[in-house]
Parts: sequence; structure tokens; C-alpha cells
Amino acid sequence: MKLWGGRFTKETNELVNNFNASISFDQRFYKQDIEGSIAHVSMLAKQNIISQNEKEEIVQGLQGIKVDIENGILCIDELHEDIHSFVEANLIDRIGEAGKKLHTGRSRNDQVALDMKLYTRDEVTEIDSLLKELLATLLTAMENHIETFMPGFTHLQKAQPITLAHHLGAYFEMFKRDRNRLHDIYERINYSPLGSGALAGTTYPLDREYTAALLNFYGPTLNSMDSVSDRDYLIELLSALSTIMMHLSRFSEEIIIWNSNEYQFIELDDAYSTGSSIMPQKKNPDIAELVRGKTGRVYGSLMSLLTTMKGIPLAYNKDMQEDKELTFDAIDTVKGCISLFNGMISTMTFKKDIMESSAKNGFTNATDAADYLVNHGVPFRDAHGIVGQLVLYCIEKNIALDDMTLEEYKRISPVFEEDIYEAISLETCVNKRTTIGAPGKEAMEKVINVYKEYLNNY
Ligand code: ARG
Repeated sequence: MKLWGGRFTKETNELVNNFNASISFDQRFYKQDIEGSIAHVSMLAKQNIISQNEKEEIVQGLQGIKVDIENGILCIDELHEDIHSFVEANLIDRIGEAGKKLHTGRSRNDQVALDMKLYTRDEVTEIDSLLKELLATLLTAMENHIETFMPGFTHLQKAQPITLAHHLGAYFEMFKRDRNRLHDIYERINYSPLGSGALAGTTYPLDREYTAALLNFYGPTLNSMDSVSDRDYLIELLSALSTIMMHLSRFSEEIIIWNSNEYQFIELDDAYSTGSSIMPQKKNPDIAELVRGKTGRVYGSLMSLLTTMKGIPLAYNKDMQEDKELTFDAIDTVKGCISLFNGMISTMTFKKDIMESSAKNGFTNATDAADYLVNHGVPFRDAHGIVGQLVLYCIEKNIALDDMTLEEYKRISPVFEEDIYEAISLETCVNKRTTIGAPGKEAMEKVINVYKEYLNNY
């Protein structure tokens, strides 16, 4: 079963076998392993290192293995150390002598580096398209809620009125940056380590440019030692995935708050909530809570891999095998979370009336009252003080700024006139904010058009 039994005189200890093996998890990239091997032997034949016939036998054998795994005819048995050993042993079983030439001029070190890059490259693309779907969902909600007023918060205290479109737009920006990060990472991943050998290249006349092109890489990597021991791209990816989770987690926290009995800004769809085994009235935001919870798990993968890599001398060391489970788990977690999150957002109901009446109390228009005074010649610091007195007065009487009579206003400052009511109305407070990036309708419509254009092009 072993690729390396030759120099050993004893059987490996059973526990060592289990401890050392990676097949239980690296079998997930059997497809990439086979794809890489096909490129490798195609190049070996082109360079006359193996014959054309041998190449064809090997390629056919490898394709047969792939088909049989996919049809369930061939089971990946865990007696082999890793997926590379499994495929090679199976190939030799199937086609005999030619199969023994597959590994010419190659090491598992450059092979595993290649497989992992091929695998993560595909996953990066997939996560990117999941994020794009989420952005499309957000954009639809934004278009529907340009005039849904709600309070904007700082310190979780009502601050100034905004719209739901504006609030959702903040997340649009975050997920847009997340996609950007993935694109950057892709650019750096996309160089082929194949042909680096164990660490020092090989003496065979390998054509690394050729295999890189066959596998759709931009080109070969330029240092064979780095090629087999670089895990930067995984650390970058885990960092980007952690940031995605951080964004999903913040959004989840808001959904949990908005869904609480106290806020009631939203109603989650039954299909995306859960109940309690004891309290019949409960409808819980478990999905949002789990997304928030799983964020820690993805951060954990990032910290683990950073720590694993920090003391490893060049070049390959077995520690690096730890990259797989961490990365796979993070990728699975992030993909699951984005999909579920998207479903949750696209099915939930926003309660416009409750959001609007919440924006109307809590003095979210106090800044605008001060700005009114400034527009009438009062220095801002004085205006701030005057409106502070108004707020105090209203709190005592348990009313809003909008409910004060002009007489009451004038008692605190003679500058106030009848037009104060217009100036502090919710519509004015929001829609006068027309600088780009602000919640006003005009500004929001411009930004929505930019987002539409963006989703059409990227
Ligand atoms: N399973 C190993 C890994 O994931 C494959 C490379 C093994 N190389 C070696 N020299 N033992 O890293």
C-alpha cells in the first residue's frame, strides 16, 4: 500500500499510520489530483520523458478512476495514506507498468501544493458567486426600501433618521469589498507549483510553463522551495473568510435585535426560524445566532494556520498537512452561512410602520433642529445647547420635538419660526441628505444605479 516502503524493514505502528494519514480529508480533492496528474503526464510525453503510448494509457486509467469514483463503483478506501497514494496505486492496479511512470519528476510535495491550489481556486470562485447572489438580494431590498424610514444608531442609541435602503447599503459595501479581497487572492494563488519536485526542482527537462498553461494558471511559480512550502494564500483566504464571517455576524446581530420583541422591525419567515421545546410562543432567530456563532470557528482556523506556519523551516514539513482540515472547514462554513443568510434575508418581512414610528421618537431629528438654528445665523455650539434644552423640556413632558408649539419653541429661542416643523420632519431629515453616500432619496438612487452597474459587470 505504501509509496515509500523500500527502505523500511518494519511495519509502521498502527497508531502512526492513523496519525500520519490524510486520506480521510484529502480525498475531497481527488478530481484536482487527477487533473494535475493528467497535465503532468501530458507534459512528460511532450518532453519525451515517457512515450506517447504510456501517456495515453495513464490518462485513460486516470479518467477511468475519476468516473468510477463519481459513479460510486470505486470507493476511496482509507487504507492508503493519502489521495495521491490511492490514485497511483489504483492506476498501477488498472494499467500495470505504465502506471508506475506517473510519478516521474514529481513529489507529493509539489503535487499536494498543486491540488490544494486547484481546489481553493475553484472554491474562491464559488464563494465569490455566493456573495454576488447575496448582493443581488440586498440590492432588491434596497430598491424596495428607499423610502422606508428607520432610526440610525450609534452606541445602539437612536441617532439620526436613515432609510432601510441606506442601512442595507452599508452591508452591500462590506460584501462588495469581500469579493474584491477574493479577487485579489485569486490573482496571487494563480501560479502553478507543479514541477517544483520535493523542494529543488528536478533534473528532468520538465516544461513547467506548459503544465501551468494546461491547468489555466498564469504561469509557474519562480522558486521551488517556496512553491512547496507556501501557505500564504491559505492564510490570506482564511483572513478574507474571517472578514466575511465578521460582516455576516454583525448583520446577524442586527437581525437578532430587529427581531426581538422590543424592536419588531422585522418578521423572520417561518421557514427560517425555529421554536422552543417548552415555550409555545417562541419563534427564534437560530440561523442568525448560528452564523454569529460560527464566526469564531472560522477565526479559529485562521489563528491555527498562522500558528502552525510560524516556526516551520524551509521547505516542506508535515505540519503543513494541517492546512487542509482547517481550510476545508472554513470554506464549508462560509459557504453554508452565506447561502442560509441569503435565504433568511430574502424571505423576511420588514415592518415599515414600526421602523418609521421608531424613527419618529428618540429625538433623531435633534441635529436637524440645531442645523435649522445654524441656517438662521446661530453658531453651531450655541444651537447645540439650545436644542439640548428643547430635548430636556420634551423628556419632562414626554413629547417629541415635533409636538412642541411654536410658542414653546420661542420661549427657548426666538429664532424659531413656523418652518421649524418642516425642517425637522422625517422626510426632510432624510431627503435633504443628498451628498453622495447619504440616505436621501436622490443620493440613494444614484448609488443604487452604481450597484446595478457593478453587478452587471462583475
Ligand atoms: N498529505 C500530505 C500533505 O497534506 C501530502 C504531502 C506528503 N509529503 C511528504 N513529504 N510526506 O501535506
